Amino acid sequence: MKIDILTLFPEMFEQVFEHSIIKRAREEHKVEINLVDFRKYSLDPHHKVDDTPYGGGCGMVLSCQPIFDCIDAIKTEESKVILLTPDGVCYKQSIAYDLSYERHLIFICGHYEGFDERIRSLADLELSIGDYVLTGGEYASMVLVDSIVRLIPGVIKEESHRNESFNENLLDYPNYTKPRNFRGMEVPEVLVSGDHKKIEAYRREESLRKTQNRRPDLWNKE
Ligand code: ADE
Repeated sequence: MKIDILTLFPEMFEQVFEHSIIKRAREEHKVEINLVDFRKYSLDPHHKVDDTPYGGGCGMVLSCQPIFDCIDAIKTEESKVILLTPDGVCYKQSIAYDLSYERHLIFICGHYEGFDERIRSLADLELSIGDYVLTGGEYASMVLVDSIVRLIPGVIKEESHRNESFNENLLDYPNYTKPRNFRGMEVPEVLVSGDHKKIEAYRREESLRKTQNRRPDLWNKE
């Protein structure tokens, strides 16, 4: 998979994709991540990328030209263009799964007070990572890259994400490791019983119980 991130702040991403699973996925060429500074596409003599809003109001609005030209330069038939914006569709695990099978993702990070509405016409999908407003789409695109890349086939063992939170709208079951007793807190007996059927049933039960208690919104989904 190839991921191009259109941003005015490529330095914000330094280090971010250089650790752990994402680093390994890049080294093994399972994903290529490019930071594209769309200011370079501005035709303005001073490389301006924004302007005042029509109709008045405070703040600056990202202009069409640099972003349209940048997309024209990098988009192919295989590309899926995603605009990060607080008024997009709310991101969730099932979207991460779908996107992990794409060949080329292009993320457009908005910034400042907003972007020219016509920029939306470039996007195949508009995504928000939650009901709060960030200073720009940069942090949102980091979240997307992390959650998508780990799902690319071959990046981590499939069994590692088969049972994890949000699959089937359920939260994850609790995990324990050694020691069996830590400061008086015991590992549930069933997990050391060696009875795999019972362990599976316990985990399922805990997963259902936790979802019902913590996320009734997920629980009530069909
Ligand atoms: N840009 C600003 N806020 C955002 C959010 N919540 N999700 C995605 N992009 C954003």
